[in-house]
Amino acid sequence: MCGIVGYTGYRPAAPIVVEGLKKLEYRGYDSFGVAAKNNDMSIDCYKRQGRISEAEKAASMLKGTMGIGHTRWATHGVPNDVNAHPHYDCRKRIAVVHNGIIENYAELKRGLVSRGHSFSSDTDTEVIAHLLEEVYTGDLFKAMKAILPKLSGSYALLVMAEGDDRIIAARESSPLVLGFGDGEMFAASDMTPLLDHTERMMFLEDGDIAVLSPDNARVFSGDTEVTRKVELIDWSVGDAKRGGFKHFMLKEIYEQPHVFSDTIRSVETVPDGLARCKGAMVVACGTSYHAGMVFKYLLEEACHIPVRLELGSEFKYFTPPVTELVIGITQSGETADTLAALKKAKAHNCPTLAITNVLGSTVTRIADETLYMRAGPEISVAATKSFIAELAVLMQCVNHLSGGKFSEEIFRANRAVEEVLLLDLSTAVQTCNGADHIFFVGRGPFYAVALEGALKMKEISYIHAEGYAAGEIKHGPFALLSPKTPVVAICMPGSTYGVMVSNIKEMKARGTPVVVIGAGGDDELAAIADVYIGLPKGGLMEEVLMTTVVLQLLAYRTADSLGRDIDKPRNLAKSVTVE
Ligand code: F6R
Repeated sequence: MCGIVGYTGYRPAAPIVVEGLKKLEYRGYDSFGVAAKNNDMSIDCYKRQGRISEAEKAASMLKGTMGIGHTRWATHGVPNDVNAHPHYDCRKRIAVVHNGIIENYAELKRGLVSRGHSFSSDTDTEVIAHLLEEVYTGDLFKAMKAILPKLSGSYALLVMAEGDDRIIAARESSPLVLGFGDGEMFAASDMTPLLDHTERMMFLEDGDIAVLSPDNARVFSGDTEVTRKVELIDWSVGDAKRGGFKHFMLKEIYEQPHVFSDTIRSVETVPDGLARCKGAMVVACGTSYHAGMVFKYLLEEACHIPVRLELGSEFKYFTPPVTELVIGITQSGETADTLAALKKAKAHNCPTLAITNVLGSTVTRIADETLYMRAGPEISVAATKSFIAELAVLMQCVNHLSGGKFSEEIFRANRAVEEVLLLDLSTAVQTCNGADHIFFVGRGPFYAVALEGALKMKEISYIHAEGYAAGEIKHGPFALLSPKTPVVAICMPGSTYGVMVSNIKEMKARGTPVVVIGAGGDDELAAIADVYIGLPKGGLMEEVLMTTVVLQLLAYRTADSLGRDIDKPRNLAKSVTVE
């Protein structure tokens, strides 16, 4: 959601900023803009609604070696050229780009208007430029220090002004990363635009103001200059490139076998909080919530440790009694609802654990302990490899807590995933791509997989898809079954096999075409199914992984057959940093 990039150095800034913004496109946006400072120190700006590719050349032509840019995801004011960032003060001497939301902007705007300021846009951001205008006398850092206490809400800000040769960056509840080059300094809302230029990065903390010059960055918290660690990032530039694949999503699905192995190997022990806990609560959103649901089934079954599951967006507003370990799962580490839920858990004095893919992300600063996945950058909006990496972390935790019961299985699981990547799903795709509605059903951990399969299908193919616990279908959704509403059923061997077969037969009796995912060689089951996808033999964890990958591929191939914009589905943002 929204992205910002800044550069100050010896090269022309605008092309670097525009390239950086392109790397942030995956976060979702509706308009973009760049401001660069000319050698005569005046600021020029180019901004417009629409895709960067439609105006890349014009935006890159701005002159100067210092620049800031923005991809906007409209919150205050419709997407149009005027509301696109950067925003200016009345005299166009100060330019601001902003991620986040200024909650008290209406009140601030009223005051500014009454003092004679004239506004060009409907955005909350523009108040920042006008507030700066009132106090700026040539020292932009001083001006920022004076106005930031007036803002409430969240922000990652980059600001430039005529008469000051520094970029000032500030952060509050919205991520901001600095990149250190040689004689160049970069800033961005996440690491991806910086990977082309440097592996040395610094993650700002809430309340930080950074003063950026080509040779250094000084960071202040309040009146005190502070030291923030410069981290060496081992994500490669190639990780963030499509590398011959038609879409990032497909590339990321194919990366899963090694992502799973790398992550499993990296989780060598269980954090203290988890090792000690008698019960845990997971807070998460979307795909990460589904990972938490798989964890619940696996941990309760293997270790008899009860696990509660809460949506981040719900937990924040209600106060269920909570005393146990609270685990926040968030691949980006920036999902506002999950962060809010974890903060609330902390306020209840609960121990907290974060599971995330992003070093230095906000969740790592909230939680007491953090476990990292090793997925590398995930560019496609639809989460795939990060889900598998979340499962890897959680499965390895279950394995450790159970005394290594699943070691053999999880260390060979990458091979099972590799085999699934080779399956031909064309008949299943044909069954799905003409449908308006699809149900995905399973039981136990496969219910969580069904929910995730339905989420993938709906977000990238735009076909309405619902995940259901198989046993619940007859408590209502039966009314919707018809020859035009296929069901995708996960029916693996195990304790729920018999009842799943009955469920499938019941659905078939309503004329519903059923795509069944089951064990290879199960001829009886294959005979009931309209389309049968047989998987290699494996343990429960391998089955969870394999069925997940089948459903990811089914969603991908279905969406591709419909010509969808798979990596950037409509209305969606990669990282949901507002509540
Ligand atoms: C779906 C998807 C979203 C995210 C959700 C949470 O494909 O990507 O549902 O899973 O927005 O994101 P994180 O894990 O970053 O907290």
